Amino acid sequence: MAELLDDLDMLLGAAPDDPKAVYDRVASHYERFRALWIALAGNAVEQPMLAELTAILAPGQRVLDAGCGTGTLARRIIAMQPSVDLTMLDLSPAMLAYTDDVHGEHVEGSVLDLPFPDDSFDVVVSSWVIETVPDPIKAVSEYLRVIKPTGYVLYTFCSLPDGWVSRVGTAFLRAAVENRFAGRFLPPEETPWHDCDRSRRVRSHAGVTTFVELRKCCSVASAILPGPTDVIPPPATSEWRHVSTQ
Ligand SMILES: C[S@@+](CC[C@H](N)C(=O)[O-])C[C@H]1O[C@@H](n2cnc3c(N)ncnc32)[C@H](O)[C@@H]1O
Repeated sequence: MAELLDDLDMLLGAAPDDPKAVYDRVASHYERFRALWIALAGNAVEQPMLAELTAILAPGQRVLDAGCGTGTLARRIIAMQPSVDLTMLDLSPAMLAYTDDVHGEHVEGSVLDLPFPDDSFDVVVSSWVIETVPDPIKAVSEYLRVIKPTGYVLYTFCSLPDGWVSRVGTAFLRAAVENRFAGRFLPPEETPWHDCDRSRRVRSHAGVTTFVELRKCCSVASAILPGPTDVIPPPATSEWRHVSTQ
């Protein structure tokens, strides 16, 4: 009961404007709201992302959880592959403090200006983060910059659903996320990197959630990264799962 009142107080009180202040404020409530979000809408894209992580993670790989929050995903990664070299980065020190129990490097920093050299990670994973930053495209550029030529970028985000019926149907959910969690449901013009010829996209609930997988040699990366990026041979078509909608 005390938890419920506490959650209600947080939901109804005035929300700060900038994402860092928002997440510093919600940190102690975050896991409960995350679980609710996953149950309502997030699971349909989180599951394919976790399945992909299970498939690609290997011992000793360098993995970045970008915008790690309280470490839900980081704990899953360690459970899947205990010997990965995991870095957890977040803008909010209050959120990051909840990852203290997870073995790895803990970095306070921004996904818009990652404090890592080019080509340093095997996998960058970022769940429900790009919709909370002012420039989602810049965040994804940074993810692509820091992966190795053979690396993977995986991210999930809230997206504006297709058609007015879905938009009306999800209005309450969208208002709650936008008002309290600094998250926007990204419109197509802010997510132009869905339709890459050599990457994967999964959408659910008429498009309200999206999972994207990119690689350095896909056409998205080639378009934004300086210099030649086709540094590994393009994989056989069968290795790439093309855009799919659930
Ligand atoms: C909705 S939470 C998602 C947390 C976690 N990835 C998860 O799956 O539960 C968004 C997170 O992004 C972080 N964040 C927002 N803007 C950021 C930025 N510019 N750089 C790094 N982290 C940021 C917030 O502090 C928060 O922890």
